[in-house]
Amino acid sequence: MKTWWKNSVIYQIYPRSFADSNGDGIGDLNGITEHLDYLEKLGIDVIWLSPVYQSPNDDNGYDISDYQEIMRDFGTMEDFDRMLAEAHKRGIRIVMDLVVNHTSDEHKWFVESRKSTDNPYRDYYIWRDAKNGKEPNNWGASFGGSAWEYDDTTDMYYLHCFSRKQPDLNWDNPMVRQEVFDMMTWWCDKGIDGFRMDVISMISKKPGLPDVQAPEGAYGDCCSAVCNGPHVHEYLQEMNRKVLSRYDIMTVGEAAGVTRQEALKYASLDGKELNMVFQFEHTGITAGEYGKWTDKKVPLIPLKKILNSWQTELEGKAWNSLYWDNHDQPRAVSRFGNDDPAYRELSAKMLAVCLHMMKGTPYIYQGEELGMTNAGFERISDYRDIESLNAYRDYVESGRLDADTMLRYLKEISRDNARTPMQWNDRENAGFTTGTPWIAVNANYPVINAEKALKDSDSIFHFYRKLIALRKQYELIVEGRFQPILEDDEKIYAYERILGNEKLTVACNFTKDTVTCGVFTDVTGEELISNYTEHREGILQPYEARVLLTVH
Ligand code: GLC
Ligand code: CA
Repeated sequence: MKTWWKNSVIYQIYPRSFADSNGDGIGDLNGITEHLDYLEKLGIDVIWLSPVYQSPNDDNGYDISDYQEIMRDFGTMEDFDRMLAEAHKRGIRIVMDLVVNHTSDEHKWFVESRKSTDNPYRDYYIWRDAKNGKEPNNWGASFGGSAWEYDDTTDMYYLHCFSRKQPDLNWDNPMVRQEVFDMMTWWCDKGIDGFRMDVISMISKKPGLPDVQAPEGAYGDCCSAVCNGPHVHEYLQEMNRKVLSRYDIMTVGEAAGVTRQEALKYASLDGKELNMVFQFEHTGITAGEYGKWTDKKVPLIPLKKILNSWQTELEGKAWNSLYWDNHDQPRAVSRFGNDDPAYRELSAKMLAVCLHMMKGTPYIYQGEELGMTNAGFERISDYRDIESLNAYRDYVESGRLDADTMLRYLKEISRDNARTPMQWNDRENAGFTTGTPWIAVNANYPVINAEKALKDSDSIFHFYRKLIALRKQYELIVEGRFQPILEDDEKIYAYERILGNEKLTVACNFTKDTVTCGVFTDVTGEELISNYTEHREGILQPYEARVLLTVH
């Protein structure tokens, strides 16, 4: 088994917001191709491409109506092939998003399925009769309301864990599995390099589709009935046998509700299922009474506890993926660091050190390498994301939250924070488009943009470049055992990595305070990277991060 994904750094592109080549305000494949040199300079190995398939865009491409066509807004299959070839020429691999827990309701399978109860595609989806004149159970959808949609053609309900335009596929049907495997094979034969599997932990539902815990009359989070279900490992092992194991590709499963115990199965080093999973414990850390919606700050000790346990419990058995943000999360520097201009660069670099020196495969979300910040939207009309818009409607209309509070929460947590256009330069629309962007550009683009970062040798961009280069140079960074230190410190995240006679000591100050830190006192070693040029004995300066290599 080849394991190039272990020493790779992956860069996620959200195509809609990356680069628009034809002035229609929407990023596209040719826009990506035009910027491959930029990514080559950064030094990343792999691009994870968010969905580019044909889609009515109810959820920006995560609702696919044809898996073997390119979304018209993004270009053509020829554009795709050219992008793939140009990426490969630069030694960059392309990992596709695989969204197969559900399709679009405009996919031909679903168009057929809803026609009649005896249609050959009926059983491709999950249909149920009403129960006591209401939905078949009390499951709530991720994007609000019931997870069931009534369809009067056959007087039955279909299941959709996300929007009503994203009906869930019935993975218990072997024909569904075979269709998916054939489609994956088709893409592998085209020469792509892997899959990021959308909510793959949700494909096997609990038999009987039982009610979940919820207050009387309310919908409940259905994760306990759909995440890590009874057949999920069996189906992934079948996928592995029939498709994955036949190609030199990598896989990462987006695994809502995954525990460390479950991750040992999904991402076991024996290679029977996937190479790694995205877990949600650290990004879900501030969730509470209003689901994900909050303006709570991330507390450091619990954050360390979570990430440290993932590091130590998977050691030697499974492989971690490492991420601070993606297209579903607020911007890393705004959430985990400090986007105040005085600390933005320092804290963005500190976060990069903290993540890239851990054991696992690091992911960079487009613009993270520039320290791009949350959108700063003030009005609900600025938002485009279905989840944000539905949540605003649900919470504000029901009176559970007032409009100002909900707007404050959106400003912290909304997925649109990550979806504002990539900031290429200080010209109009940040150089993203010559037209009108589909979502507003962040107002800070004259200060934060790629052109500026490339020219400044001290920029966040060049800092990431250095981190990526270090991973290529030191096996210790890839394979070293992770050992937490200073676990009870409320301001410092520190750990060691150990391999043979080599040791890496990493310490990161997560605050704007000057804090005492003895881990480097009287230690002589080689400094691999730091966001400060001068250190102070026994002290970490605001957001200071240091990495010291010692050999015994
Ligand atoms: C995943 C995607 C997210 C999407 C959802 C439904 O969580 O990352 O963007 O909305 O699945 O497909
Ligand atoms: Ca375009």
